[in-house]
Amino acid sequence: MTDSVSRRTFVGAAGAAAALTALPRGAAALEPTLKAPAIHLKPVARFGAVSSGNGLRAVNKTFELVSAGTDTLDAAVEGVKIQELDPDDNSVGYGGLPNEMGVVQLDASCMHGPTRRAGAVGALEGIKTPSEVARLVMKYTDHIMLVGEGAKQFALSYGFKEENLLTDRSRQLWLEWRANRGKEDDWLDVPEGEKMARVTGTINLDVVNTKGEISSITTTSGLSWKIPGRCGDSPIVGAGQYCDNDVGAAGSTGRGESNIMVCGGFLTVEHMRRGMKPTDACLETLKRVLAATPPRLLRPDGRPDFGLQFYAVNKAGDFGAASFYPDQFAAHDGREGALRDCAFLYQRSR
Ligand code: GLY
Repeated sequence: MTDSVSRRTFVGAAGAAAALTALPRGAAALEPTLKAPAIHLKPVARFGAVSSGNGLRAVNKTFELVSAGTDTLDAAVEGVKIQELDPDDNSVGYGGLPNEMGVVQLDASCMHGPTRRAGAVGALEGIKTPSEVARLVMKYTDHIMLVGEGAKQFALSYGFKEENLLTDRSRQLWLEWRANRGKEDDWLDVPEGEKMARVTGTINLDVVNTKGEISSITTTSGLSWKIPGRCGDSPIVGAGQYCDNDVGAAGSTGRGESNIMVCGGFLTVEHMRRGMKPTDACLETLKRVLAATPPRLLRPDGRPDFGLQFYAVNKAGDFGAASFYPDQFAAHDGREGALRDCAFLYQRSR
């Protein structure tokens, strides 16, 4: 049930209130056994997991593991690892599109609500699952973020294997981009093709269990053909994802630089803290992004010339997502996982 107060919660609170008013005046004080039952006005948490459109397998895996008692962050890591290890998802992990030098550099960050801890890695090379390395930074260090060679050495010290993350397909796409990137190219005798758009992929996953324990994680290969060393929003705690165990969690996919400018993960959780439902919170953050967008990134009609999506879950298990233009997200409500339509600000004009 998206963005809705559960009927069970409402009926429970109303029933308890009715029992309290039915007590004879002073009875509770005279007779302990007649004490009014406690009224739990806090919503009862339901399972809820929300993810980007490439995260259907991830939310299903997360549900399966959380149902078996696995911690919310550990379950979320196993969920997003499906995409990290999938050579056909060229926005995340193994097979991700490389930087302009043809090197895959990965970013990830995570937060664990119950312990209020966070970890992140940026520009990590040679390791297929940056989500696991971010969790290790969180678990075993007093730091939040490790980057580049330091992040790789840290991963290797925990037994990760260094591997070539470039698949034949992602190398081919990079070669085509390099061959066509401009009139002044130095590159000869390479396959020709259409001018290739730069893409940002990414997977974000935010989850709450029935105890109200919340976690969030985001992992990506970032912007394709980026300048080496570029980190987007995904490894930035508060931008690519954010979790507050009292409120909820949120994260993002799309143009990272635009999200970083508004600390969108944090901002979305703050909107929920002030009472907004997840979908409305995501839409509100998109409006803030728009207000902070420079003209060079707007189309002539004033609409954004890039994609950005936010996903959120609150402590009660409600979830939602929003995008500038029509898009889809994945979610699991404790009964089934499915792709759903994001709320959006603009119909894409043809
Ligand atoms: N949101 C992914 C990136 O910009 O790197």
